[in-house]
Amino acid sequence: MAIIDDKLVTVPGDGSFAGREMELLIDAGELQSKVAELAEDISGKYPGRCPIIIGILNGSFVFMADLVRKLTIPFEVDFIKLSSYGSETSSSGTVRLLKDISADITGRDVIVVEDIIDTGLTINFLRHRLEEARPTSVAFVTLLLKDEVAKLDFPIDYVGFNIPNRYVVGYGLDIDQQLRGLDAIYALKEN
Ligand code: PRP
Repeated sequence: MAIIDDKLVTVPGDGSFAGREMELLIDAGELQSKVAELAEDISGKYPGRCPIIIGILNGSFVFMADLVRKLTIPFEVDFIKLSSYGSETSSSGTVRLLKDISADITGRDVIVVEDIIDTGLTINFLRHRLEEARPTSVAFVTLLLKDEVAKLDFPIDYVGFNIPNRYVVGYGLDIDQQLRGLDAIYALKEN
């Protein structure tokens, strides 16, 4: 990957964003401090319980790996893979289930981990789907929230950072499926 310096990254490969510059938005230290804060909050809310932590693939895998390693409570993990096709001109959209969870969540505490909530389509869909299985509780954690864009039917329990409506990448998030391994969050620069 073509890192120019630690504040600027160029998109590699030959995809539609190849060669575009991305600027630092949230550095690695800020991310790790926030993850520790979120883990402490969550641990304090589930004393003596063992929630199932469900990551939404692919983007959440880095955040979730760091988050769970800072929890001080027992927990289990599972994953779900969803794909959403929103429309800029309509509030409706379609969410496809690409991989379902394996765990039985009936009567369990569930914590959903998302890397980013953009339009809110994915998380709204998932909430309805999970509730059909009658868990004891469902809470939502997102590292990033586009609070000016997201249309949510319910409040998000744990939010890392509210961010502007920009294309962001790194720490699990991709551009052309690349750059998920960056340890900080970068935003696409306008041309
Ligand atoms: C991203 C992200 C969220 C979703 C948020 O996933 O990881 O799951 O979009 O967008 P929404 O609020 O508008 O629904 P994406 O479909 O890009 O897949 P990925 O996680 O595999 O990158």
